[in-house]
Amino acid sequence: MKEHQLITTKDGSHTIYVPELNEHYHSSFGAIQEAQHIFIENGLKKIKKPVVTILEVGFGTGLNCLLSFLEAENTRQRIIYHAIEKYPLEEEETDKINYGSILKATRMYKRIHSVDWLNEVTVNGNTLFKIPYDILKTSLPGNYDIIYFDAFSPNVQPELWTEKLFLKLFQHLRKEGFLVTYSSKGIVKEALRAAGFFVERLEGPEGKRHILSAGKIFKGNPPKHIGDEKPKQAPKQAPNV
Ligand SMILES: C[S@@+](CC[C@H](N)C(=O)[O-])C[C@H]1O[C@@H](n2cnc3c(N)ncnc32)[C@H](O)[C@@H]1O
Repeated sequence: MKEHQLITTKDGSHTIYVPELNEHYHSSFGAIQEAQHIFIENGLKKIKKPVVTILEVGFGTGLNCLLSFLEAENTRQRIIYHAIEKYPLEEEETDKINYGSILKATRMYKRIHSVDWLNEVTVNGNTLFKIPYDILKTSLPGNYDIIYFDAFSPNVQPELWTEKLFLKLFQHLRKEGFLVTYSSKGIVKEALRAAGFFVERLEGPEGKRHILSAGKIFKGNPPKHIGDEKPKQAPKQAPNV
């Protein structure tokens, strides 16, 4: 396992730093504020359905899952949450992370981590299915309303921010679904468009100018979260990945 260091970010919430990659799991401006802005405000809150299916690429600390379940409690939605993670964290490590105490959800956070991998379980009325595999190699077990794309950055993991992987994700999105991610780099937008997405640049959280939301369909009057730019080419058939 790679060496990890627990760091406190500007809003008081923890993140993990991986020295070998020189990469943090979250923004040093605040892990919770960043995740809330990207994945909840510009993700889950855009879907008004009673049951929302979510795929997360890069489960890591489980912060996005916890925030989603807390949001669903407020809106009385039910979430079916599939999370892919190539390098699952040990419970010994997640026990030290302070999201549960900050968000007053210590038991829920503990349960998110203590439930078995590859087992569909109920957490606070939601369904959680954690998959301990490489997103490049695993097949996806569902179709989704939202994809939280939260891998390490394109500088560190260029192999994950590709047309090939985005095409695979595109094919597992529901018709009105969209993908949301923190990187707004040019190569990411290009790869998303090449895979068939309509890409929209949105305001970022503190410390970050922009984020991306990429929708599957273009409507005459696109909803706020779905893109205002047409893809450069039509979607292709998915290659085997
Ligand atoms: C930026 S961190 C974010 C983690 C998480 N969303 C969070 O809030 O803690 C990226 C995560 O992607 C995971 N990851 C890296 N490569 C992966 C791959 N090929 N397949 C699945 N997960 C991967 C990493 O292990 C790490 O947990």
